Amino acid sequence: MKKQVTLLVVVLSTMLVSVAVADDTALRANCQGLFKAVPQQAPVIADNAHNDAKLLLGHMLYFEPRLSASQLISCQTCHNVGLAGGDLQETSTGHGWQKGPRNAPTTFNAVFNTAQFWDGRAEDLKAQAKGPVQASVEMNNKPENVVKTLKSIPAYVELFAKAFPGASDPVSFDNMAEAIELFEATLITPNDGLDRFMAGDNAALSAEQKAGLELFVNVGCAGCHDGVNLGGTDYFPFGVVEQPGADLLPADDKGRFKVTNTEADAYVFRSPALRNIALTAPYFHSGKVWSLKQAVGVMGSSQLGMELNEKEVAQITSFLEALNGDQPAVVHPVLPASTEATPKPDLSNLATAAH
Ligand code: HEC
Ligand code: HEC
Repeated sequence: MKKQVTLLVVVLSTMLVSVAVADDTALRANCQGLFKAVPQQAPVIADNAHNDAKLLLGHMLYFEPRLSASQLISCQTCHNVGLAGGDLQETSTGHGWQKGPRNAPTTFNAVFNTAQFWDGRAEDLKAQAKGPVQASVEMNNKPENVVKTLKSIPAYVELFAKAFPGASDPVSFDNMAEAIELFEATLITPNDGLDRFMAGDNAALSAEQKAGLELFVNVGCAGCHDGVNLGGTDYFPFGVVEQPGADLLPADDKGRFKVTNTEADAYVFRSPALRNIALTAPYFHSGKVWSLKQAVGVMGSSQLGMELNEKEVAQITSFLEALNGDQPAVVHPVLPASTEATPKPDLSNLATAAH
């Protein structure tokens, strides 16, 4: 009798294990059709050939506060590589302590987005990098002044020449942006729970995270948050089913409308990337939501017209927490000294600044 019971237990538990394995296999196959793993190495950028000098230059420029008029603000200020590429602010604070209109999205894995900014107005990282340097609420500088600054520092002149061999005028605003793009492509976060699960490791996600992943796929989150970044791929109204209140969706930021001037694009935004999302609160372009659970709940009602219950929200959130990948270990570069020819920090022009 005892033997039979033991046998029954063994048979039952084997069945349970095989059910779990079958579920894992089906879930994995589902995921592989929707998502792509973050690669282990920086992707090759079609029109931006790698060389070591250019990568070093881009790395230095990302941390270079002299790209800003005040000489206080660098890309790192708002896209802190120790904070998963974000800045902990609702909306960014830039030149002269001014508040910008939108939350800073992470630079991590941004190379995989099909277009940059919440409204997709820059086609790639190269085009993007020229924006913040000139934006009055960000770095408030002029391309001529940036070039003058870089040309006044011999170490930069030398490095630009090495980075852009054969260029007749290597120190240029465009080449600055190209070098930064090459560096940003190295800010990637492989090996998170989802990617390890997709690669065959059933233990990479907990049971709760798998339940959350299943919901994420089945209720339709993955319809807008897919690809390498679980987002960054396409444009959708914030409020497909139900527009969120003005507290989360301020009336004066009409999103992609400003880019296309088409009424159908009012309050349309690019689906944001969700890799490392648990590390980059606050959420939404307005930065008004600090809790990831709350953001998940808002998505259920605004994008899908469904009230997710507490358990479902907890499971999906737990899955999103599994999207924290290996953070890039970035060394702070030593930056060359200014010279007498270097323009001085300029903190004037505050009153007229507007975005
Ligand atoms: C004052 C803060 C601030 C500074 C400085 C700043 N950024 Fe940003 N960055 C932002 C904000 C805010 C956005 C979103 C703006 C929008 O969508 O309209 C953004 C967007 C981006 C994006 C788009 C990411 C995505 O997913 O769409 C990238 C890439 C980026 N910045 C890189 C840079 C680089 C490179 C520099 C330095 C040259 C820089 N930023 C300087 C605040 C800043
Ligand atoms: C119809 C497309 C669509 C669907 C479906 C959708 N989202 Fe979103 N998601 C978006 C857009 C667009 C935004 C950006 C909203 C904004 O701030 O303007 C967003 C923002 C988010 C954010 C905040 C990201 C950040 O960086 O601030 C999270 C988290 C999120 N979605 C998770 C989910 C989850 C979980 C689901 C399923 C319950 C879901 N989304 C369903 C399009 C969608």
